[in-house]
Amino acid sequence: MHKLYITGGRPLRGTVKISGAKNAALAIISASLLASEPVCLENIPFINDVSVLLDITANLGVTVERMGPNMVKISTPDSISTVTPYKEVKKLRASNLLLGPLLARFCNAEIALPGGCNIGTRPMDLHIKGLEAMGAQITLEHGFIKGSCSRLTGAKIYLDFPSVGATENIMMAATLANGQTVLENVAKEPEIVDLANFLNSLGAKVRGAGTDVIKIEGVQQLGGGRYPVIPDRIEAGTFMVAAAATGGDLLIEQVIPTHVEPLIAKLREANVKVFEQDDNIRVLSDEPLKAIDIKTLPYPGFPTDMQSQMMAMLTMVKGTSVIVENVFENRLQVADEFKRMGAKIKVEGRTAVIQGIKRLQGAQVKASDLRAGAALIVAGLIAEGDTEICNIRYIDRGYEGIEDKLVSVGAAIKRA
Ligand code: EPZ
Repeated sequence: MHKLYITGGRPLRGTVKISGAKNAALAIISASLLASEPVCLENIPFINDVSVLLDITANLGVTVERMGPNMVKISTPDSISTVTPYKEVKKLRASNLLLGPLLARFCNAEIALPGGCNIGTRPMDLHIKGLEAMGAQITLEHGFIKGSCSRLTGAKIYLDFPSVGATENIMMAATLANGQTVLENVAKEPEIVDLANFLNSLGAKVRGAGTDVIKIEGVQQLGGGRYPVIPDRIEAGTFMVAAAATGGDLLIEQVIPTHVEPLIAKLREANVKVFEQDDNIRVLSDEPLKAIDIKTLPYPGFPTDMQSQMMAMLTMVKGTSVIVENVFENRLQVADEFKRMGAKIKVEGRTAVIQGIKRLQGAQVKASDLRAGAALIVAGLIAEGDTEICNIRYIDRGYEGIEDKLVSVGAAIKRA
């Protein structure tokens, strides 16, 4: 079982290039099943979650051809299997994004219910409510979501919560439905906009992505084409926080600054210098950091996927910082690992109160989920001495070659 070994105390300096966005790629790969012609996706990150989803779609009978390290061609014939096996799905929650496309194009879907994961129960009630409103019959049987329909029909749907996955599933399904779908109180993350742009590049009619209301006019079928996925704002954010925490001076390339605006604002509040250009960001941390308060919210609020990484940075910031996690019910657990490194953190419900200490001590720690793993890397980079991180398969789900990128900007980190 591989581990990451880090020796802390070295500021990150230099230039790092960001990979394609995991959460855009997973939705866009799922959406590719809607296309009647081949689709060529570029800037796809070479990470485990993507490999697993591509394997799942290939098992359905989709032709998946890797055209290069970050390019894949997907050809979906007019009839494929619509049953995803549990053994595959349990590895990847995002396989639930196949539900909308399979129903819309093949009028059938049997998807093993994705397990909960360490950050929360991850229900699908909003996905199901929306698809049922469009005429799908959906049942939950023996751990499977089973859906069937004749042709879906457009509907007016209000999401109780701006769920990213529900917005994506319903938007994808609506592209081939009969008539108009109006989707309200939707998620506004950049990955939603990227998915809408991808669908429109195939001939769909999606309007309003990125605002509170998305309108979709159903069409008969979608064509193919070539599409580059947006950069990963959470990978970019992770490097920005690592640069800030280590007192570094890092140029992050291939990023869209507006996508990380909420994080830039918080880093500046913490006395970090951030310089934005059109497709890169420089983070300079040459003065003592200030304690700050963070509340995670759906976009454009502060992203829950950056919460644990910020907690790592704040463990060594003089004063008291408060983090409130409003999106997932169980996403503060990485605090327990930081406490093993000497951090002073009090967690009650969805709130963590952090008293800054002089220095974390390196220790043996374990990742409990993807972003907790990334946060432990940040902690290892600033701790005194050596840190050993296990369960790094979680980290490999969402970061392409993270230790190579960190070594290239001065970190003492290796995988063994
Ligand atoms: C997506 O998950 C991302 N994953 C997550 O990133 C991200 O943290 C999350 O959005 C929020 O931004 C992918 O895009 C593959 P949600 P998703 O539906 O779609 C509740 C990472 O680290 N909810 O917006 O599952 C749910 O319980 C991952 O890259 C319902 O109640 O998130 C949660 O509390 C982690 N009913 C909240 O909404 C539903 O039907 C947000 O979930 C659906 C969701």
